[in-house]
Amino acid sequence: MDDFKGRLTKDGIRIHEPEDFAGMHAAGRIAADILDRIAPMVVPGETTGAINVAIEKMVEDAGATSATIGYRGYAHASCISVNHVVCHGIPGAKVLKAGDILNIDVTVIHDGWFGDTSRMYVAGEIGRKAERLVQVTHDALMKGIEAVRPGATFGDIGHAIQTYVEAHRMSVVRDFCGHGLGQVFHAPPNVLHYGRPGTGPVLEEGMFFTIEPMVNLGRPETKVLADDWTAVTRDKSLSAQFEHSIGVTASGCEIFTLSPAGKFHPTWFSNT
Ligand code: MF3
Ligand code: CO
Ligand code: CO
Repeated sequence: MDDFKGRLTKDGIRIHEPEDFAGMHAAGRIAADILDRIAPMVVPGETTGAINVAIEKMVEDAGATSATIGYRGYAHASCISVNHVVCHGIPGAKVLKAGDILNIDVTVIHDGWFGDTSRMYVAGEIGRKAERLVQVTHDALMKGIEAVRPGATFGDIGHAIQTYVEAHRMSVVRDFCGHGLGQVFHAPPNVLHYGRPGTGPVLEEGMFFTIEPMVNLGRPETKVLADDWTAVTRDKSLSAQFEHSIGVTASGCEIFTLSPAGKFHPTWFSNT
């Protein structure tokens, strides 16, 4: 037994209580609001390090704690993954240039609950292929979320994402996955973004987890650089990712990390 309340399924997945949803909504909203408010900094000439410093301050000002600072030796309040970086990009001296696409991933702890979300941003005008990649990745996450309801399986979620992505002749990264979370950062199950219908653990009301597909314009293979964090596409093709934290309800799911300003969807920056 551990110190957390609620039961575990045979797959080791925690079933949370109805009152736990409020804590996740509060944590998720803080993370999503930070992603809303950082958007004006994502412009050509800015460094990823400066963006991260602003995020770290926003986490503190919100009365929350960064879940990533000190996590397995990671030292920053965000991951910022530019162009062919798949995930876990380390913020630093890198200067954004027009045409860059980037994912910013923030995880906060508030009142003991974890809120984990990421979305794509663009610096200046981007190319048509990059725009399609960002759109397809966003929509693939939403297809996965639509598959969430009690009685469905994690394989159903992966299948929904994979079929959508591959129908657009893009590829799903296999080397990283979503995860259970709640009063811990990473818990069972591994939420795969590919799979076959009806396989994997069965979803139950009260499960909390992330869905966070990484999609590449080229092949799915990745490698981790010598810094032990930065994951890149082996073929150097562009990669995109969106992430929500969600909770399974009786009828479907609730998204904990909805954008308070409605800026999650990639078209918001097109000014149309
Ligand atoms: N937020 C990432 C996720 O979606 C994990 C980042 S761990 C870090 O699970 F140490 F790289 F920050
Ligand atoms: Co996550
Ligand atoms: Co994340």
